[in-house]
Amino acid sequence: MKKTKGIILAGGKATRLYPITKVVSKQLLPVYNKPMIYYPLSILMLADIRDILIISNSETLPLLKSLLGNGKKLGIKIEYALQEHPNGLAEAFIIGENFIGGDNAALILGDNILYGQGLSDILKRAVCRQNGATVFGYYVRDPQRYGIVEFDQNNKAISIVEKPQNPKSNWAVIGLYFYDNEVSKVAKTIKPSQRGELEITDLNAVYLKEGKLNVELLGRGYTWLDAGTYESLLDSSMFIKTIEERQGIMIACLEEIAFNRGCISKEELLSLSKELSGTYRDYLLALIK
Ligand code: G1P
Repeated sequence: MKKTKGIILAGGKATRLYPITKVVSKQLLPVYNKPMIYYPLSILMLADIRDILIISNSETLPLLKSLLGNGKKLGIKIEYALQEHPNGLAEAFIIGENFIGGDNAALILGDNILYGQGLSDILKRAVCRQNGATVFGYYVRDPQRYGIVEFDQNNKAISIVEKPQNPKSNWAVIGLYFYDNEVSKVAKTIKPSQRGELEITDLNAVYLKEGKLNVELLGRGYTWLDAGTYESLLDSSMFIKTIEERQGIMIACLEEIAFNRGCISKEELLSLSKELSGTYRDYLLALIK
């Protein structure tokens, strides 16, 4: 079985969040008690992906590097690459072509937050699929904002359109995608859209046309948030706070995931906790006990 490597795209100007993001990258903003990028990174780790490429712009890359380093402390491997201009999500597979090499690839957007019982199993299923692509549909109120997938009577996906004015359904394609090794080759065939971007939706449309696009629907038991607007940024923080306070269990605690998945030892977790402070540190110490 081919291994799956992971890419986090953390570029873009995030103009919808101005002035918050005028000098700070969106993916470093807090979502309750963690930097936003912890959430997508946790998803890749839960999918048992251990080789990760983070793509961002020149201002943000050094900050991400000083936050996450080469991943060794979390028992994973993190590399970095530059996306000079926000040329679209599909460009990640052109920038990441050498990184992907002969393996399969997953992409997650740096502002996507995903939560729900049984998520790890769904992720592992996607990783195990060796041919074609897997995307996930999530029912939303405002389909004009997303890539939207349309189904026939047999629930077979028949079209996928980016930010449609007249959406054919309310099923948005979330910012987490799994592809076979063809993805970089396919990405190079995509032409820029009207907004001047290599659209991930156009890439998915190629897989769909070839009958190689799996669409998994995430039902109402799942939470998908994209922290890209003032409202959704605040909603995300409130959501994480609500669950964490009620249960006393953290969401997207990278150190905990690394420990539970056997990527780091008790001793390594202990030394990680020494770099932290406050209740986050107490939480890690309690795990060791
Ligand atoms: C992007 C994709 C869109 C997808 C969304 C998920 O939109 O183009 O298909 O539904 O992410 O977050 P953008 O963030 O570029 O508006």
